[in-house]
Amino acid sequence: MFATIAAHYDLLNHLLSGNIDKRWRRLVAKTLSPILARSDAQVLDVACGTGDLSLALLKGGEARIVGLDFCRPMLDIAVSKVSRFGFSLPFVEGDALDLPFADRSFEAATIAFGLRNLTSVEAGFKELLRVLKPGGRVAVLEFSRSQAPLLRSIFKIYFTKLLPLFGGLISGSKSAYQYLPDSVSHFPNQKELADLMTQAGFEEVTFRNLTGGIAALHLGTRPY
Ligand SMILES: C[S@@+](CC[C@H](N)C(=O)[O-])C[C@H]1O[C@@H](n2cnc3c(N)ncnc32)[C@H](O)[C@@H]1O
Repeated sequence: MFATIAAHYDLLNHLLSGNIDKRWRRLVAKTLSPILARSDAQVLDVACGTGDLSLALLKGGEARIVGLDFCRPMLDIAVSKVSRFGFSLPFVEGDALDLPFADRSFEAATIAFGLRNLTSVEAGFKELLRVLKPGGRVAVLEFSRSQAPLLRSIFKIYFTKLLPLFGGLISGSKSAYQYLPDSVSHFPNQKELADLMTQAGFEEVTFRNLTGGIAALHLGTRPY
């Protein structure tokens, strides 16, 4: 599915979100800034897609960033985008459920709008935990449940009716943009996701609602 929409993915992300998605990714980088500032730190961006978060992390400091995704056409766009900005970073083709990295490799790991697409959220967390160093931080950016009733109603109409229509027209794949609201509706809400992170073994699990809870940023730490 992501191979089909790769060419239009960035355009539609920014258009359909009114560029709010860029602000959300910058917030992830800001939250991890103490780690990103360290030139000896390694940060893994899982399900990196076309590399927007990887790039935001790269711009956030001195840390070495590694992007991973299993969709080659998305990665190809990430590679050329990063080189357009004058950077080069490793983009690895691999599975988030079987990460090709040794245990305890990274100071931080991120996953933006990727967790929802995994066949098992629990298995995804298990892998993220495994590759983090003790004390390492995980940041999960994902669509969530708006807390405000009015915003929730308006957003629901937009997300379930208009977005599949425009997304389908521009990308040529209505099913991919129908999948988006469908997958969000089956995804755990803020509290449930935080509980899953704790159950997976993360500690200091917190979350922050973004844009009234349309998205949320969950953070956790691998225990020592
Ligand atoms: C909605 S995109 C998000 C891309 C990017 N993180 C962003 O913020 O725009 C979801 C990405 O997850 C990737 N993905 C889904 N399941 C995966 C898996 N099991 N392993 C690796 N990547 C996966 C897809 O290929 C796609 O690029």
